[in-house]
Amino acid sequence: MKTLIRGGTLVTEYESLRADLLLEGEKIAAIGPELSCPEARVIEAEGKLVFPGFIDGHTHMDLPVCATVTADDFASGTAAALLGGTTTIVDFATQEKGETLEQGLDNWHRKAEGKASCDYGFHLAISQWDRQAEADLPRIFRRGVTSFKLYMTYANQVTDRELLEVLLALKPLGGIVGVHCENSGMIDVMQRQVKARGITGPEGHPLSRPDEAEAEAVNRLLALARVADVPVIVVHLSSKKGLEVIRQAREQGQQVYVETCPQYLHLTDRVFEGADEKEGRRYICSPPLRTGEDLAALWEALDEGEIDLISTDHCSFTDAQKAAGQGDFTAIPGGMPGVEDRVRIMYHSWVAEDGAEPSRLVRVLAAQPARLFGLYPRKGCLQVGSDGDLVLFDPNWEGTIRSDQCHNAAGYTPYEGWKIRGRVEEVFLRGHHVVSGGRLIAAGLGQYLPRSSCQL
Ligand code: URP
Ligand code: ZN
Ligand code: ZN
Repeated sequence: MKTLIRGGTLVTEYESLRADLLLEGEKIAAIGPELSCPEARVIEAEGKLVFPGFIDGHTHMDLPVCATVTADDFASGTAAALLGGTTTIVDFATQEKGETLEQGLDNWHRKAEGKASCDYGFHLAISQWDRQAEADLPRIFRRGVTSFKLYMTYANQVTDRELLEVLLALKPLGGIVGVHCENSGMIDVMQRQVKARGITGPEGHPLSRPDEAEAEAVNRLLALARVADVPVIVVHLSSKKGLEVIRQAREQGQQVYVETCPQYLHLTDRVFEGADEKEGRRYICSPPLRTGEDLAALWEALDEGEIDLISTDHCSFTDAQKAAGQGDFTAIPGGMPGVEDRVRIMYHSWVAEDGAEPSRLVRVLAAQPARLFGLYPRKGCLQVGSDGDLVLFDPNWEGTIRSDQCHNAAGYTPYEGWKIRGRVEEVFLRGHHVVSGGRLIAAGLGQYLPRSSCQL
């Protein structure tokens, strides 16, 4: 199986250059001007950008949460991912309380195997930290899981003691932790106060989870990481105050990686103004959507190179599932769809509107996630020998994002009605042509990716 991508503009994290690219089997076999390969199938890419397959380092497929299960499983979620130009996801396998870490990981393998349309790896969210969990860690690493998630809020939150113990236990193994940073006590009290004011609809959600809750938790996490002397990842950073805490720590030489998500760069708490409850519930995620000032601060940080990766936190629920929180914002399942929108919305805002070089997109949507999660250079770049994961992107297409044209199982997109420039047209996964003309033509080819330790 040989495919020659001819006449496109290849975009790496460093530059854009006109060149041909030859796929042979599952790998990139050659890159250069005027390549010739008579036996190859030829795809004309004149006028198109050729990106490495994008990597989404933060998804939740088939996750039980709030007495329901996310709308997208590995079949629908990874198909939507491919259609959006994402050829690899790193999903959060999650240990339920009462399970061992290995059982949690086994469950996620069962959920994904044979169903995934894009390649996938797993982080492991630790919900019960004890001696058994600690003893399991080396086996978890041997199974290709090198990154972990801890929550400082929610039912499966860890205490500060547990957080520090996990950081210390992972240190000799070369593991890294991504942490959901929100002060849970602060949120409990604020939820009661907001309800006491008679606010029960979705607009109460951001009021009950102030930016101080994120900033305090980031500060505490970074203090614990300094004591352990390990790098950490702050996942889904949403606030200017949290960012400022990270800046101060970095100025003191601390190694901290920052992830944010398109929703924190494009949507604010103003979405709740004039929205009915049903519409408002679609925008419930944690941390919550914040103010225009927070959004501007995150864009500035992105422009300055302070954001390491942009992931989706794809965690989708249908309107019917979200209706569990009718009249009580604390009962709304939290999360929104994003895997299909991430690349196009970031291309539109950052490259088409703001004039950023397309290579900057490659850095935060592909190369940095690949390094951070031990997949580089198999994934995240256009190099001879790398997996043949490609996205052919039409930068001149103009159109509107419509929920009825989306493929996630939630049935809507948070960017309904947005007019954008640029779209994903062709996608190759390990040399296989899987999306053609914006349509999925091959499903179920996704493979598990055992990962090495963080390469940053
Ligand atoms: O509300 C959200 N983001 N749900 C997904 C789980 C998480 O906190 O990452
Ligand atoms: Zn989280
Ligand atoms: Zn998440």
